[in-house]
Amino acid sequence: MKMKKFLAAVSSLVMLGAFTACGDSSSNESTNNNSNNNAEATTKADDAATEADAGADNNNSAAGKTVGIAMPTKSLERWNRDGEYLKSQFEAAGYSVELKYSDNNDNQQNNDIQGMIADKVDLLLIAAIDGSTLSQTLADAKDAGIPVIAYDRLIMNTDAVSYYVSFDNYTVGKLQGEYVVEALDLDNATGPFNIEFTAGDPADNNAGFFFNGAYDAVKKYIDDGKLNIPSGKKKFEQVATAQWSTDTALANMQNTLASYYSDGTQLDVALCSNDSTALGVAQAISSDYNGKNVPIVTGQDGDIANLKNIVDGKQSMTVYKNVSDEAGVTLEVSKAILSGQTPDASLLDSLSAEATYDTSSYDNGVKTVPSYLLVPYVITKDNLDKLVDTGLYQWDSANKYLESTASTT
Ligand code: GAL
Repeated sequence: MKMKKFLAAVSSLVMLGAFTACGDSSSNESTNNNSNNNAEATTKADDAATEADAGADNNNSAAGKTVGIAMPTKSLERWNRDGEYLKSQFEAAGYSVELKYSDNNDNQQNNDIQGMIADKVDLLLIAAIDGSTLSQTLADAKDAGIPVIAYDRLIMNTDAVSYYVSFDNYTVGKLQGEYVVEALDLDNATGPFNIEFTAGDPADNNAGFFFNGAYDAVKKYIDDGKLNIPSGKKKFEQVATAQWSTDTALANMQNTLASYYSDGTQLDVALCSNDSTALGVAQAISSDYNGKNVPIVTGQDGDIANLKNIVDGKQSMTVYKNVSDEAGVTLEVSKAILSGQTPDASLLDSLSAEATYDTSSYDNGVKTVPSYLLVPYVITKDNLDKLVDTGLYQWDSANKYLESTASTT
C-alpha cells in the first residue's frame, strides 16, 4: 500500500518531464541530487520524497547517501528510460544520484565506475556493457566497502556483486518462441515454414538466455522438419548481434535475404531477440524481401519505434518489460542493503510489482547471484492498451500510435 502510493507519486514525477530524450548520444551524463532545474518537477520531487519519507519505515537509510548508477548507452531507448526511472525514484526516496552512460564502451564504463568509487558512492547499480570486463573494478568497489547490484544484466566473474535485479530472461525468449508456435499454428498446420534468428550481444549475459528460451520453444518443430532454417544458422554465435546494433541486424538480414531468399523462398519468421535488432530486420524485410507474405517479426522492450511498427504491421509482437517497476524493485533492494539488512524472498511481500526471488539460475562463474526477476508479457497490436494502463504510454493525438507519457522533447 505504502509502496503503491510511493510509486504513484514517482510516476507523476516522471510524467512531469524528468525524462531525457532518447537517442541523445552525448556520452557522459552525471547528475546530482535535486540538480533538476525544472521548478515544478523539483516541487513534485519534494512532494514525492515527503510522501516516501512519511511512508518509510523507521530505518530511513537515505539521508546523505549517494547511489552510483552506471547505464550502458543512450543510443538504445530502453536505457534512457531505465536511467531516468532509477534517478527519479532514488531521488524521490531521498538519495543523491550519480548517473553515467558509457557509450557502449566497456573501458569507459570501467573508468566511470572507478570515478564513482573515488566519489565514495554508498552503493553501485550497474547495467554492464560487457559483463565479463568489470572484475577488477568491482574488486576495488569491494575493497572500498561499496555494495554492488547488477541491474538487468548479470556481471560475470566476480564475487563483488551482491544481488541481481532483472526480468526472467529465459521467459522473454520463451514468450517469443511460443508466439511463433501459436501464430503459425505449428501443432496443426502442415508447413513447412522458414525461420531465421537474430540474437543479441555476446557480451551481454542476457542474450544467451533470450536465444535459448526462444530456441527451446520452437526446437521440436525444427527437429521434426516443420520449421526450416534456410541459412542453417541455428547457433547463438552465428546469429549474435554485437551491441544489439540496429544497423548490424539490418546488414545481417540483408545478407541472409540475398543469400537464401532471392530465389523466391518464403521467409515466415524472423525471430529477433529485442526491439533494436527487430527494427533493422523489419527494415531489411521492407527493402530487400521479395516475398508476398508478411513475415512474423518478434521483439522485446516496447520501444516507441517498434510499437509504431506493430501498428503498421511490420513487427508482430514485443515482449514488454516494465522498467519503471524494475527500478522500483531495485530501490527496495538497495534500501534494504543500505539499512544493513540482507534482502531475501521476504522483500517480495512489500513489492507491488510481480517478481520472483531466484537463488539458482544466475551463476556468474564465481557465485550464484541471488536474483529478483520481474515478469515480462507479450504485447501485440491487439493489446496495446495494456501499455497505456501502465501510465507510461499514451495514444498520440491522432489515436494511432503510442507515445511516452514522459516529456521527451
Ligand atoms: C538487454 C536487455 C534488453 C535489451 C538489450 C539491448 O540486456 O535485457 O531489454 O534492451 O539489452 O540493450
